Amino acid sequence: MNKTNTSQTSILVTGGAGYIGAHACKALKGAGYLPVTYDNLVYGHPEAVKWGPLEEGDISNRQQLEMVMQTFKPAAVMHFAAYAYVGESAEDPAKYYRNNVAGTLSLLESMRTCGINKIIFSSTCATYGMPEQVPIAENHPQYPINPYGRSKLMIEWILQDFADAYGLKFVSLRYFNAAGADPDAEIGEEHNPETHLIPLALDAALEKSGPIRIFGSDYDTPDGTCIRDYIHVSDLAEAHMLALDYLLTTGESDVFNLGNGHGFSVRQVIEAAATVTGCEIPQVESGRRPGDPPILIGDSTKIQKILGWNPVLNQLETILETAWQWQKKIS
Ligand code: UFG
Repeated sequence: MNKTNTSQTSILVTGGAGYIGAHACKALKGAGYLPVTYDNLVYGHPEAVKWGPLEEGDISNRQQLEMVMQTFKPAAVMHFAAYAYVGESAEDPAKYYRNNVAGTLSLLESMRTCGINKIIFSSTCATYGMPEQVPIAENHPQYPINPYGRSKLMIEWILQDFADAYGLKFVSLRYFNAAGADPDAEIGEEHNPETHLIPLALDAALEKSGPIRIFGSDYDTPDGTCIRDYIHVSDLAEAHMLALDYLLTTGESDVFNLGNGHGFSVRQVIEAAATVTGCEIPQVESGRRPGDPPILIGDSTKIQKILGWNPVLNQLETILETAWQWQKKIS
């Protein structure tokens, strides 16, 4: 474990080898920080860690975490490390509460021990559960409907309690549907197993898989399929940079939504993917996937007003085009 460049401010990035974490590392490097990835590589990819050192370890391992913190003396932590399969969380909740909740508690206690008091946390629109109205603002009631969403909400509460009791400063970012890839195609989405609509639709276009299954066509939406708010992963990464500036300067702890405020149905996404790729996308109608809310659209006015967030890759076509370049590269 070598801290090479002492002139750079380090930021500890848990889950930096994962999809969103790796894009945040690229943004951090671009802004002059040293992103130090801490990742157990269960789902992360070591080859996605390109902009700073990789420390392989689990967030439950306090001894190792504290060694890394003492070596790099990060000014703040960006915490992406989590399990995020909604279906799996219902089948094996212990795995989610152990890794996401207990793991985060371990991280926070190590931060306290090492005198680090700033954290940016990856939360999710899954903490809202079934929306009472859309677009969903931050003050919408939070009644998550699966253990994954509950694990993330518990962490939001823990952060608030640590802020009140110990002076922790946090920003929780509630992501809507992260999608797309680095516009330079250096990194992108590569889940195993893949469950997300856009990479699966692109795989179907490339004939890497069978037809894309449309999970439910009898929802109360204009074309009967679920509507989601897709946000480009690089715009998400930029929001983390703004949250970091905020925390490192005057910022108070806060919670922000991150979405584009526009919803697209499953059929609209598949149609747009066919246009962007120029390929036919074989599709088949399938039953509803348990736990899918019909419509999720985020109201992100608050982060635009307070942090000046201005998403630039906010067109569905741009999201699909960058995802397509990446998907072709890895296939
Ligand atoms: N879908 C299909 N076929 C597929 C895959 C998905 O029809 O093969 C549909 C889903 O039913 C859903 C939409 O496409 O209506 C988007 O599904 P994704 O799996 O891509 O994304 P989700 O909306 O389920 O998940 C996202 C985040 C989760 C978060 C969740 C909150 O990826 O981390 O939103 O609801 F928990």
